Amino acid sequence: MIQLVRGFKDILPDEIGIWNQIEQTAADLLNLFGFKEIRLPILEKTELFQRSIGELTDIVEKEMYTFPGSRDEMLTLRPEATASVVRAYIQQRLYAVDPIQKLFTMGPMFRKERPQKGRYRQFYQINAEVFGIASPLMDAQLIIILSSLFMRLNISGLCVHINSLGCPECRPAFKKALMETFAAVSQELCADCQRRREKNPLRVLDCKVPSCRQAIASAPAMTDFLCHACDTHFEAVKAALGQQGIAYVVNPWLVRGLDYYCRTAFEIQTSQLGAQNAVAGGGRYDGLVQTLGGPSVPAVGFAVGVDRLVDIMLQQGKCVESVPDIFIAPLGDAAVQKAFEWSCALSKAGVRTEADFTGKNLKALMKRADRLHARFVLMVGERELEEKAVVVRDMESKKQISVPIEKMVEEIQKLARNGFNQ
Ligand code: HAM
Repeated sequence: MIQLVRGFKDILPDEIGIWNQIEQTAADLLNLFGFKEIRLPILEKTELFQRSIGELTDIVEKEMYTFPGSRDEMLTLRPEATASVVRAYIQQRLYAVDPIQKLFTMGPMFRKERPQKGRYRQFYQINAEVFGIASPLMDAQLIIILSSLFMRLNISGLCVHINSLGCPECRPAFKKALMETFAAVSQELCADCQRRREKNPLRVLDCKVPSCRQAIASAPAMTDFLCHACDTHFEAVKAALGQQGIAYVVNPWLVRGLDYYCRTAFEIQTSQLGAQNAVAGGGRYDGLVQTLGGPSVPAVGFAVGVDRLVDIMLQQGKCVESVPDIFIAPLGDAAVQKAFEWSCALSKAGVRTEADFTGKNLKALMKRADRLHARFVLMVGERELEEKAVVVRDMESKKQISVPIEKMVEEIQKLARNGFNQ
Protein backbone atom coordinates (compact mmCIF):
# COMPACT_ATOMS: atom_id res chain seq x y z
CA MET A 1 0.00 0.00 0.00
CA ILE A 2 1.31 3.46 -0.82
CA GLN A 3 1.72 5.43 2.42
CA LEU A 4 1.85 9.20 2.86
CA VAL A 5 5.16 11.03 2.76
CA ARG A 6 7.09 11.16 6.07
CA GLY A 7 6.35 14.33 8.02
CA PHE A 8 3.05 14.87 6.18
CA LYS A 9 -0.32 13.96 7.63
CA ASP A 10 -3.98 13.47 6.84
CA ILE A 11 -6.46 15.59 8.74
CA LEU A 12 -9.38 13.27 9.36
CA PRO A 13 -13.09 14.17 9.80
CA ASP A 14 -12.82 13.61 13.59
CA GLU A 15 -10.50 16.61 13.87
CA ILE A 16 -12.00 18.85 11.25
CA GLY A 17 -14.46 20.50 13.66
CA ILE A 18 -11.55 21.96 15.62
CA TRP A 19 -9.76 23.11 12.45
CA ASN A 20 -12.91 24.88 11.25
CA GLN A 21 -13.49 26.43 14.65
CA ILE A 22 -9.94 27.84 14.80
CA GLU A 23 -10.05 29.19 11.24
CA GLN A 24 -13.52 30.69 11.63
CA THR A 25 -12.73 32.25 15.02
CA ALA A 26 -9.52 33.77 13.63
CA ALA A 27 -11.27 35.11 10.50
CA ASP A 28 -14.09 36.67 12.59
CA LEU A 29 -11.63 38.24 15.01
CA LEU A 30 -9.33 39.58 12.31
CA ASN A 31 -12.35 41.04 10.51
CA LEU A 32 -13.30 42.84 13.71
CA PHE A 33 -9.86 44.44 13.73
CA GLY A 34 -10.12 45.56 10.11
CA PHE A 35 -8.15 42.81 8.35
CA LYS A 36 -9.07 41.62 4.87
CA GLU A 37 -8.35 38.17 3.51
CA ILE A 38 -5.84 37.56 0.74
CA ARG A 39 -5.17 34.17 -0.92
CA LEU A 40 -1.79 33.48 -2.40
CA PRO A 41 -0.10 30.67 -4.34
CA ILE A 42 1.86 28.04 -2.40
CA LEU A 43 4.59 28.12 -5.04
CA GLU A 44 6.94 31.08 -5.44
CA LYS A 45 10.31 31.79 -6.98
CA THR A 46 13.07 30.53 -4.66
CA GLU A 47 14.76 33.90 -4.74
CA LEU A 48 11.82 35.47 -2.87
CA PHE A 49 12.56 33.40 0.23
CA GLN A 50 16.34 33.65 -0.10
CA ARG A 51 16.14 37.43 -0.13
CA SER A 52 13.56 37.79 2.66
CA ILE A 53 14.09 34.98 5.17
CA GLY A 54 17.87 35.17 4.66
CA GLU A 55 20.51 32.94 3.04
CA LEU A 56 22.09 31.89 6.34
CA THR A 57 18.93 30.68 8.07
CA ASP A 58 17.97 27.06 8.74
CA ILE A 59 14.85 27.51 6.62
CA VAL A 60 16.70 28.63 3.49
CA GLU A 61 19.83 26.51 3.98
CA LYS A 62 18.18 23.21 4.81
CA GLU A 63 14.40 23.17 4.90
CA MET A 64 12.94 24.36 1.61
CA TYR A 65 11.31 22.10 -0.97
CA THR A 66 12.99 23.56 -4.03
CA PHE A 67 12.96 22.26 -7.59
CA PRO A 68 13.54 23.56 -11.12
CA GLY A 69 10.57 25.27 -12.77
CA SER A 70 10.30 26.32 -16.38
CA ARG A 71 13.39 27.81 -18.02
CA ASP A 72 16.23 28.59 -15.58
CA GLU A 73 13.95 29.35 -12.68
CA MET A 74 14.09 27.61 -9.30
CA LEU A 75 10.77 27.28 -7.49
CA THR A 76 10.00 26.65 -3.82
CA LEU A 77 6.94 25.46 -1.90
CA ARG A 78 6.44 28.37 0.48
CA PRO A 79 8.03 27.77 3.91
CA GLU A 80 6.13 30.79 5.30
CA ALA A 81 3.65 33.38 4.03
CA THR A 82 5.08 36.78 4.97
CA ALA A 83 7.39 36.96 1.94
CA SER A 84 4.48 36.11 -0.38
CA VAL A 85 2.19 38.72 1.20
CA VAL A 86 4.94 41.33 0.76
CA ARG A 87 5.45 40.24 -2.86
CA ALA A 88 1.72 40.62 -3.54
CA TYR A 89 1.62 44.01 -1.76
CA ILE A 90 4.35 45.22 -4.11
CA GLN A 91 3.39 43.41 -7.32
CA GLN A 92 -0.34 44.22 -7.08
CA ARG A 93 0.52 47.81 -6.07
CA LEU A 94 -1.72 47.59 -3.02
CA TYR A 95 0.33 50.42 -1.51
CA ALA A 96 -0.85 52.72 -4.32
CA VAL A 97 -4.49 52.18 -3.30
CA ASP A 98 -3.64 52.79 0.35
CA PRO A 99 -0.21 52.28 1.94
CA ILE A 100 -2.02 51.04 5.05
CA GLN A 101 -3.13 47.48 4.38
CA LYS A 102 -4.17 44.93 6.98
CA LEU A 103 -4.19 41.50 5.39
CA PHE A 104 -4.69 37.97 6.59
CA THR A 105 -4.19 34.65 4.91
CA MET A 106 -4.43 30.99 5.90
CA GLY A 107 -2.99 27.86 4.38
CA PRO A 108 -0.29 25.23 4.21
CA MET A 109 3.45 25.90 4.54
CA PHE A 110 6.26 23.44 3.82
CA ARG A 111 9.53 22.94 5.69
CA LYS A 112 11.76 19.88 5.44
CA GLU A 113 12.39 19.74 9.19
CA ARG A 114 12.98 16.56 11.21
CA PRO A 115 9.42 15.45 11.97
CA GLN A 116 8.39 15.12 15.61
CA LYS A 117 5.42 15.95 17.83
CA GLY A 118 4.20 19.43 16.87
CA ARG A 119 6.62 19.67 13.95
CA TYR A 120 5.41 18.71 10.50
CA ARG A 121 6.73 19.09 6.97
CA GLN A 122 3.40 20.44 5.78
CA PHE A 123 1.79 22.59 8.45
CA TYR A 124 -0.84 25.32 8.46
CA GLN A 125 -0.55 28.94 9.47
CA ILE A 126 -2.92 31.84 9.95
CA ASN A 127 -0.98 34.97 9.05
CA ALA A 128 -1.84 38.59 9.78
CA GLU A 129 0.30 41.29 8.20
CA VAL A 130 0.01 45.06 8.61
CA PHE A 131 1.64 47.50 6.18
CA GLY A 132 2.13 51.22 6.57
CA ILE A 133 1.86 51.56 10.35
CA ALA A 134 5.09 52.33 12.21
CA SER A 135 3.43 52.87 15.59
CA PRO A 136 4.34 50.52 18.46
CA LEU A 137 0.60 50.43 19.22
CA MET A 138 0.18 48.20 16.16
CA ASP A 139 2.81 45.74 17.46
CA ALA A 140 0.94 45.61 20.77
CA GLN A 141 -2.43 45.26 19.06
CA LEU A 142 -1.25 42.19 17.15
CA ILE A 143 -0.24 40.54 20.43
CA ILE A 144 -3.63 41.53 21.87
CA ILE A 145 -5.38 39.93 18.88
CA LEU A 146 -3.42 36.71 19.45
CA SER A 147 -4.32 36.77 23.09
CA SER A 148 -8.04 37.28 22.27
CA LEU A 149 -7.87 34.43 19.77
CA PHE A 150 -6.57 32.03 22.40
CA MET A 151 -9.15 33.30 24.89
CA ARG A 152 -11.99 32.75 22.40
CA LEU A 153 -10.70 29.25 21.75
CA ASN A 154 -10.51 28.67 25.49
CA ILE A 155 -6.85 27.68 25.38
CA SER A 156 -4.95 28.12 28.61
CA GLY A 157 -1.33 27.85 29.72
CA LEU A 158 0.22 30.16 27.11
CA CYS A 159 2.90 32.76 27.72
CA VAL A 160 3.78 35.87 25.66
CA HIS A 161 7.53 36.38 25.08
CA ILE A 162 8.76 39.65 23.62
CA ASN A 163 12.08 41.15 22.68
CA SER A 164 13.46 43.98 20.60
CA LEU A 165 15.92 43.20 17.83
CA GLY A 166 16.90 46.82 17.27
CA CYS A 167 17.34 48.45 13.88
CA PRO A 168 20.13 48.97 11.31
CA GLU A 169 21.35 51.85 13.52
CA CYS A 170 21.90 49.95 16.74
CA ARG A 171 22.12 46.30 15.75
CA PRO A 172 25.70 46.42 14.31
CA ALA A 173 27.19 47.14 17.76
CA PHE A 174 25.20 44.23 19.20
CA LYS A 175 26.35 41.95 16.38
CA LYS A 176 29.95 42.96 17.03
CA ALA A 177 29.60 42.15 20.73
CA LEU A 178 28.05 38.78 19.84
CA MET A 179 30.88 37.99 17.41
CA GLU A 180 33.43 38.69 20.13
CA THR A 181 31.59 36.47 22.61
CA PHE A 182 31.28 33.64 20.10
CA ALA A 183 34.90 33.92 18.93
CA ALA A 184 35.98 33.22 22.51
CA VAL A 185 33.82 30.03 22.73
CA SER A 186 33.99 29.01 19.09
CA GLN A 187 35.25 25.45 19.87
CA GLU A 188 32.01 24.73 21.71
CA LEU A 189 29.73 25.79 18.84
CA CYS A 190 28.15 23.33 16.40
CA ALA A 191 29.36 23.24 12.78
CA ASP A 192 26.48 25.49 11.59
CA CYS A 193 27.17 28.12 14.24
CA GLN A 194 30.93 28.03 13.58
CA ARG A 195 30.07 28.94 10.00
CA ARG A 196 27.43 31.54 10.86
CA ARG A 197 29.00 33.28 13.84
CA GLU A 198 30.94 35.76 11.70
CA LYS A 199 28.30 36.62 9.12
CA ASN A 200 25.04 36.17 11.03
CA PRO A 201 25.73 35.83 14.78
CA LEU A 202 22.03 36.34 15.66
CA ARG A 203 21.33 32.90 14.23
CA VAL A 204 23.68 31.42 16.84
CA LEU A 205 21.32 32.75 19.53
CA ASP A 206 18.55 30.76 17.89
CA CYS A 207 20.48 27.46 17.80
CA LYS A 208 18.90 24.57 19.70
CA VAL A 209 22.07 22.41 19.98
CA PRO A 210 22.78 21.99 23.75
CA SER A 211 26.52 22.84 23.52
CA CYS A 212 25.63 26.08 21.67
CA ARG A 213 22.95 26.94 24.24
CA GLN A 214 25.60 26.67 26.93
CA ALA A 215 28.11 28.71 24.94
CA ILE A 216 25.64 31.54 24.41
CA ALA A 217 24.59 31.76 28.05
CA SER A 218 27.08 34.60 28.51
CA ALA A 219 26.08 36.47 25.32
CA PRO A 220 24.94 40.09 25.65
CA ALA A 221 21.26 41.09 25.26
CA MET A 222 20.07 43.28 22.36
CA THR A 223 17.94 45.28 24.78
CA ASP A 224 21.19 46.68 26.26
CA PHE A 225 22.22 48.03 22.84
CA LEU A 226 18.97 49.66 21.69
CA CYS A 227 19.23 53.17 20.27
CA HIS A 228 16.93 55.83 21.71
CA ALA A 229 14.26 55.38 19.02
CA CYS A 230 14.20 51.57 19.39
CA ASP A 231 14.17 51.80 23.16
CA THR A 232 11.23 54.25 23.09
CA HIS A 233 9.41 51.95 20.66
CA PHE A 234 9.95 48.89 22.87
CA GLU A 235 8.82 50.76 26.00
CA ALA A 236 5.65 51.86 24.20
CA VAL A 237 4.86 48.26 23.16
CA LYS A 238 5.26 47.10 26.75
CA ALA A 239 3.17 49.99 28.09
CA ALA A 240 0.32 49.25 25.66
CA LEU A 241 0.36 45.54 26.61
CA GLY A 242 0.36 46.50 30.28
CA GLN A 243 -2.54 48.90 29.74
CA GLN A 244 -4.60 46.08 28.20
CA GLY A 245 -3.69 43.67 30.99
CA ILE A 246 -1.61 41.34 28.80
CA ALA A 247 1.03 39.50 30.82
CA TYR A 248 4.38 39.06 29.04
CA VAL A 249 8.00 38.24 29.70
CA VAL A 250 10.91 40.05 28.09
CA ASN A 251 13.06 37.27 26.62
CA PRO A 252 16.46 38.57 25.44
CA TRP A 253 17.16 35.21 23.71
CA LEU A 254 14.15 35.54 21.43
CA VAL A 255 15.64 36.32 18.01
CA ARG A 256 13.27 34.27 15.76
CA GLY A 257 14.54 32.10 12.93
CA LEU A 258 14.04 34.60 10.09
CA ASP A 259 16.35 37.46 9.17
CA TYR A 260 13.81 40.15 8.24
CA TYR A 261 12.84 41.29 11.73
CA CYS A 262 13.68 44.60 13.35
CA ARG A 263 12.54 46.05 16.67
CA THR A 264 9.67 44.05 18.19
CA ALA A 265 9.82 40.23 18.02
CA PHE A 266 7.31 38.08 19.88
CA GLU A 267 6.27 34.50 20.38
CA ILE A 268 3.39 32.84 22.17
CA GLN A 269 4.84 29.81 23.89
CA THR A 270 3.41 26.73 25.55
CA SER A 271 4.92 24.00 27.69
CA GLN A 272 2.34 21.50 26.43
CA LEU A 273 4.02 20.38 23.21
CA GLY A 274 7.46 19.24 24.33
CA ALA A 275 10.29 20.82 22.36
CA GLN A 276 7.94 22.65 19.97
CA ASN A 277 7.01 25.47 22.29
CA ALA A 278 5.84 28.23 19.92
CA VAL A 279 2.18 28.34 18.87
CA ALA A 280 2.54 31.75 17.23
CA GLY A 281 5.35 34.10 16.34
CA GLY A 282 5.84 37.42 14.68
CA GLY A 283 7.36 40.83 14.76
CA ARG A 284 8.19 43.99 12.91
CA TYR A 285 9.90 43.90 9.51
CA ASP A 286 10.16 47.56 8.47
CA GLY A 287 12.86 47.06 5.80
CA LEU A 288 11.41 44.09 3.94
CA VAL A 289 9.05 45.81 1.51
CA GLN A 290 11.91 47.97 0.26
CA THR A 291 14.38 45.05 0.16
CA LEU A 292 11.99 43.21 -2.14
CA GLY A 293 11.71 46.17 -4.50
CA GLY A 294 8.76 48.12 -3.06
CA PRO A 295 8.49 51.53 -1.43
CA SER A 296 9.81 52.24 2.05
CA VAL A 297 6.84 51.08 4.12
CA PRO A 298 6.93 49.79 7.70
CA ALA A 299 5.32 46.42 8.42
CA VAL A 300 4.54 44.07 11.27
CA GLY A 301 2.75 40.74 11.51
CA PHE A 302 2.35 37.30 13.02
CA ALA A 303 1.69 33.69 12.13
CA VAL A 304 -0.23 31.20 14.23
CA GLY A 305 0.68 27.52 13.91
CA VAL A 306 -2.73 25.90 13.47
CA ASP A 307 -1.52 22.27 13.82
CA ARG A 308 0.00 23.08 17.20
CA LEU A 309 -3.20 24.79 18.36
CA VAL A 310 -5.19 21.75 17.29
CA ASP A 311 -2.78 19.46 19.18
CA ILE A 312 -3.19 21.56 22.33
CA MET A 313 -6.97 21.70 22.02
CA LEU A 314 -7.17 17.92 21.58
CA GLN A 315 -4.84 17.50 24.56
CA GLN A 316 -7.08 19.79 26.63
CA GLY A 317 -10.05 17.61 25.67
CA LYS A 318 -11.70 20.18 23.41
CA CYS A 319 -13.64 18.46 20.71
CA VAL A 320 -15.97 20.01 18.17
CA GLU A 321 -17.97 17.31 16.49
CA SER A 322 -20.36 17.92 13.66
CA VAL A 323 -23.35 15.65 14.33
CA PRO A 324 -26.58 15.21 12.36
CA ASP A 325 -29.62 16.97 13.76
CA ILE A 326 -31.70 14.12 12.51
CA PHE A 327 -31.16 10.59 11.28
CA ILE A 328 -33.92 9.18 9.08
CA ALA A 329 -34.44 5.46 9.67
CA PRO A 330 -36.78 4.05 7.00
CA LEU A 331 -38.22 0.53 7.00
CA GLY A 332 -39.34 -0.87 3.64
CA ASP A 333 -38.91 0.32 0.05
CA ALA A 334 -41.62 2.99 0.11
CA ALA A 335 -40.14 4.50 3.28
CA VAL A 336 -36.61 4.50 1.80
CA GLN A 337 -37.99 6.49 -1.15
CA LYS A 338 -39.55 8.97 1.30
CA ALA A 339 -36.31 9.12 3.31
CA PHE A 340 -34.54 10.20 0.13
CA GLU A 341 -37.10 12.96 -0.58
CA TRP A 342 -37.20 14.18 3.03
CA SER A 343 -33.40 14.22 3.38
CA CYS A 344 -33.22 16.50 0.32
CA ALA A 345 -35.98 18.76 1.66
CA LEU A 346 -34.60 18.93 5.23
CA SER A 347 -31.03 19.62 4.12
CA LYS A 348 -32.36 22.42 1.89
CA ALA A 349 -34.17 23.81 4.94
CA GLY A 350 -30.87 23.95 6.86
CA VAL A 351 -31.32 20.84 9.00
CA ARG A 352 -28.23 18.59 9.20
CA THR A 353 -29.74 15.36 7.95
CA GLU A 354 -28.45 11.83 7.47
CA ALA A 355 -30.75 9.30 5.84
CA ASP A 356 -30.12 5.59 5.51
CA PHE A 357 -30.86 4.03 2.13
CA THR A 358 -29.50 0.53 2.84
CA GLY A 359 -32.84 -1.11 3.75
CA LYS A 360 -31.40 -2.54 7.00
CA ASN A 361 -33.55 -3.48 10.02
CA LEU A 362 -34.42 -1.07 12.81
CA LYS A 363 -31.80 -2.41 15.22
CA ALA A 364 -29.00 -1.84 12.69
CA LEU A 365 -30.36 1.63 11.85
CA MET A 366 -30.52 2.69 15.51
CA LYS A 367 -26.96 1.43 15.99
CA ARG A 368 -25.80 3.65 13.15
CA ALA A 369 -27.73 6.67 14.51
CA ASP A 370 -25.95 6.13 17.84
CA ARG A 371 -22.55 5.90 16.18
CA LEU A 372 -23.21 9.20 14.39
CA HIS A 373 -24.39 10.82 17.68
CA ALA A 374 -27.56 11.99 15.91
CA ARG A 375 -29.73 14.16 18.17
CA PHE A 376 -33.02 12.86 16.80
CA VAL A 377 -34.09 9.81 14.84
CA LEU A 378 -37.06 9.90 12.51
CA MET A 379 -38.65 6.43 12.17
CA VAL A 380 -40.86 5.68 9.23
CA GLY A 381 -42.36 2.39 7.96
CA GLU A 382 -45.46 1.28 6.12
CA ARG A 383 -47.75 2.02 9.08
CA GLU A 384 -46.45 5.57 9.52
CA LEU A 385 -46.90 6.24 5.81
CA GLU A 386 -50.48 4.99 6.03
CA GLU A 387 -51.23 7.06 9.12
CA LYS A 388 -49.42 10.08 7.60
CA ALA A 389 -47.39 10.68 10.76
CA VAL A 390 -43.79 9.70 11.59
CA VAL A 391 -42.19 8.98 14.97
CA VAL A 392 -39.33 11.21 16.13
CA ARG A 393 -37.16 10.11 19.04
CA ASP A 394 -34.87 12.33 21.12
CA MET A 395 -31.79 10.13 21.42
CA GLU A 396 -30.74 11.61 24.75
CA SER A 397 -34.03 11.61 26.70
CA LYS A 398 -35.46 8.68 24.65
CA LYS A 399 -38.78 10.59 24.52
CA GLN A 400 -40.80 10.10 21.32
CA ILE A 401 -43.35 12.26 19.57
CA SER A 402 -45.52 11.83 16.51
CA VAL A 403 -45.09 14.40 13.71
CA PRO A 404 -47.64 14.75 10.87
CA ILE A 405 -45.90 14.19 7.53
CA GLU A 406 -47.64 17.26 6.15
CA LYS A 407 -45.82 19.57 8.58
CA MET A 408 -42.68 17.47 8.86
CA VAL A 409 -40.06 19.89 7.48
CA GLU A 410 -41.11 22.84 9.62
CA GLU A 411 -41.59 20.67 12.73
CA ILE A 412 -38.12 19.11 12.39
CA GLN A 413 -36.63 22.54 11.71
CA LYS A 414 -38.15 23.72 15.01
CA LEU A 415 -36.88 20.63 16.83
CA ALA A 416 -33.34 21.11 15.49
CA ARG A 417 -33.45 24.70 16.80
CA ASN A 418 -35.16 24.22 20.15
CA GLY A 419 -35.32 20.52 21.03
CA PHE A 420 -38.40 18.78 22.41
CA ASN A 421 -39.15 21.29 25.15
CA GLN A 422 -40.19 24.38 23.20
P1 HAM B 1 7.64 31.10 12.37
O1 HAM B 1 8.01 31.32 13.79
O2 HAM B 1 8.66 30.44 11.53
O3 HAM B 1 7.26 32.51 11.79
O4 HAM B 1 6.30 30.28 12.28
C1 HAM B 1 5.14 30.70 12.95
C2 HAM B 1 4.46 29.54 13.64
O5 HAM B 1 4.24 28.48 12.69
C3 HAM B 1 5.28 28.89 14.73
O6 HAM B 1 5.16 29.59 15.95
C4 HAM B 1 4.67 27.52 14.81
O7 HAM B 1 3.49 27.54 15.62
C5 HAM B 1 4.27 27.24 13.38
N1 HAM B 1 5.26 26.35 12.75
C6 HAM B 1 6.46 26.68 12.23
N2 HAM B 1 7.08 25.60 11.74
C7 HAM B 1 6.28 24.54 11.98
C8 HAM B 1 6.35 23.12 11.71
N3 HAM B 1 7.38 22.59 11.08
N4 HAM B 1 5.31 22.33 12.12
C9 HAM B 1 4.23 22.87 12.74
N5 HAM B 1 4.10 24.19 12.99
C10 HAM B 1 5.10 25.01 12.63
C11 HAM B 1 6.89 32.75 10.51
O8 HAM B 1 6.62 31.89 9.73
C12 HAM B 1 6.74 34.22 10.19
N6 HAM B 1 6.37 34.34 8.77
C13 HAM B 1 5.71 34.85 11.10
C14 HAM B 1 5.46 36.29 10.79
C15 HAM B 1 4.40 36.81 10.14
N7 HAM B 1 6.26 37.30 11.10
C16 HAM B 1 5.73 38.43 10.65
N8 HAM B 1 4.62 38.15 10.05
